Amino acid sequence: MVGGTLDFYFFSGPSPQKVIEQYGELVGFPTWQPAWGFGFHLCRWGYRDVNDTREQVTKMREANIPLEVMWNDIDLYHALRDFTTDPFSFPADQMAAFIGELTANQQHYIPIVDAAIAKLVNASDTYDPYSRGSELDVWMKNPDGSEYLGQMWPGYTVFPDWFANNTESFWTDALRNWSISGVNFSGIWLDVNEPSSFCIGSCGTGANLTAATIPTMFFPGTPGNLVTEYPEGYNDTIWGPSGNITINGTLTFGNHSLARVLPKRGLGAAVEPNVNLNNPPYALHNADGFLSTHTVSTNATHANGAVELDTHNLWGLMEEKATHLGLLELRPGKRPFLISRSTFPSSGKWTGHWLGDNMSKWRYMYLSIQGVLQFQLFQIPFVGADTCGFQGNTDEELCNRWMQLSAFMPFYRNHNVRSALSQEPYRWDSVAEASRTAINIRYSLLPYWYTLFANASLRGTPPIRALFFEFPDEPELFAVDRQYLIGRDLLVTPVLTPNVSTVDGIFPGQGRVQWRDWYTHEIVDAAVSKNTTLDAPLGHINVHIREGSALLLYDRPAYTIAETRQSPISLLVTQAPDGYAFGTAYLDDGESVPPTPNTTLTITATKGALTICPCGTFDVPQRLAKVVVLGAGPICPVEILINGERVDDDSDWEFDAKLGRLVISGVNLDLNVHNTLTWK
Ligand code: NOJ
Repeated sequence: MVGGTLDFYFFSGPSPQKVIEQYGELVGFPTWQPAWGFGFHLCRWGYRDVNDTREQVTKMREANIPLEVMWNDIDLYHALRDFTTDPFSFPADQMAAFIGELTANQQHYIPIVDAAIAKLVNASDTYDPYSRGSELDVWMKNPDGSEYLGQMWPGYTVFPDWFANNTESFWTDALRNWSISGVNFSGIWLDVNEPSSFCIGSCGTGANLTAATIPTMFFPGTPGNLVTEYPEGYNDTIWGPSGNITINGTLTFGNHSLARVLPKRGLGAAVEPNVNLNNPPYALHNADGFLSTHTVSTNATHANGAVELDTHNLWGLMEEKATHLGLLELRPGKRPFLISRSTFPSSGKWTGHWLGDNMSKWRYMYLSIQGVLQFQLFQIPFVGADTCGFQGNTDEELCNRWMQLSAFMPFYRNHNVRSALSQEPYRWDSVAEASRTAINIRYSLLPYWYTLFANASLRGTPPIRALFFEFPDEPELFAVDRQYLIGRDLLVTPVLTPNVSTVDGIFPGQGRVQWRDWYTHEIVDAAVSKNTTLDAPLGHINVHIREGSALLLYDRPAYTIAETRQSPISLLVTQAPDGYAFGTAYLDDGESVPPTPNTTLTITATKGALTICPCGTFDVPQRLAKVVVLGAGPICPVEILINGERVDDDSDWEFDAKLGRLVISGVNLDLNVHNTLTWK
């Protein structure tokens, strides 16, 4: 934002969560995600060809690491142009076959779509999206009405003008043609849509278009841009102390030595007379120089006369809306899946987001937590970082920890820069094992994730929460940014530094709330209002369950989300000392655009009793197979009743007095009716 008329809105809360919900009412609640979107996504810049891409799918399967969605970066393109496939490395027929294989295995495919559209380089060049867009007059203009030219991967480019009448239908057609030609995608990755441009100002004036060249220096892995970085602690004779991004006392990140400090100037508005649109009376002071550096010039002009200076932030948002509507047209009734780099208030209505180009550093894994928390405030809750890190080389330890952390984040994708060391989770045994463990938990928790996102789409409730969102009266939690909550009930305490086997974490509730270990079900002996040290060997991520919760789980998480959704259901009920526990689970077909039949199960426990009450019209196909009640003790029950009938077979249940854990496994209940379990 660079000035203009400001309207201020005040959200009265009173709780942090209510403030976020109220903001959501204003900007729009987040789009519904298809269930498969919660699966694990694998991507990199630098898969050479269709076979290299397919090999990843095969290797993931061989390593038994669930892979839900395979992605391709711009390697897919012919001459780096949108909506194409390279005829040699990604021939359309082979892509169609490859995506067909994925579909047959209930997996998915997502390609990248860049913002800039290549311009024809000479009279014999053919590129339909450009020609068609020109016919329909959908490109942004210079102030004199000529075509605005930028420079991106394919050379000289134009940019869709989302304010022009024909742009949305042009875009939908481009997506449709691509999809029919062999790239039968399940979702779209919108990249560089700030929008990026390598030249400053319109590169059209005086440009020799026949000499349009791909700016190779921008490609990682080419001379002048080699990938040489490693995570902190990777070579400690060079790096400073672990987790510290200082080399020999010099800060290497945030050191804007190239900064040109522009004088601070007053506010301006593009509509005012005598404003130089390309050098407006305002500076960002982001150390990158002019406002238009790396992006389209601020004097680029839209169909309605608006200039980029006034509308810059809307470019990505409008592209997201157009793409979302386009996908809806291509697959009527199915939830569009989009991940986009540029966002603005209300982007969440159309898209999810990844946190952009991070670095393969411990510090960036730590920063990903605050990134994800911020996007909860912004009502773009389906968000995640490039897992294992994008820029630079990762290493085994960092990738191990990060694959585990991101399994507990909404959008879960491993993505890597061109020419860096490969970092697919099967590359190291320890990372493979850590990933299997974490993904298994993630998939068993799918009904919980799904319910949290239903509540986000229905009411704007943030799925990922800072600790103080849930405990606003505990000031010691205000600054906690190394832990977070998934919903109300799960506390995640990841390891964020190298070469350690313990982690410190605070347990909210000031001693009045019990937390149990996800794996052992033991109650944590937590220090009150201060950190507790937890065991955290490599391959183990600490997750704790809040008392008073009732989580619906898939009992047998499988390789894909579709297979996982066939699983019988189990319930994990963690009673507070007074016996109370409560939870809801939102269920539907996982793909239709609401309104669609849905059912909410309400689970309530009191001392010695549990009820599960359905409400809605969705026919829940899975049956309840198992109930685990924590805190059901201390005394072993003598009788268990399910809907009033005694469980006679002792082998159908067991009780652990130490944990107060009652496990009833011989259950086979229809979740479409009201069910009651009692024990005494
Ligand atoms: C920039 C994106 O942020 C990154 O994720 C992608 O790999 C490159 N563009 C290449 O397309």
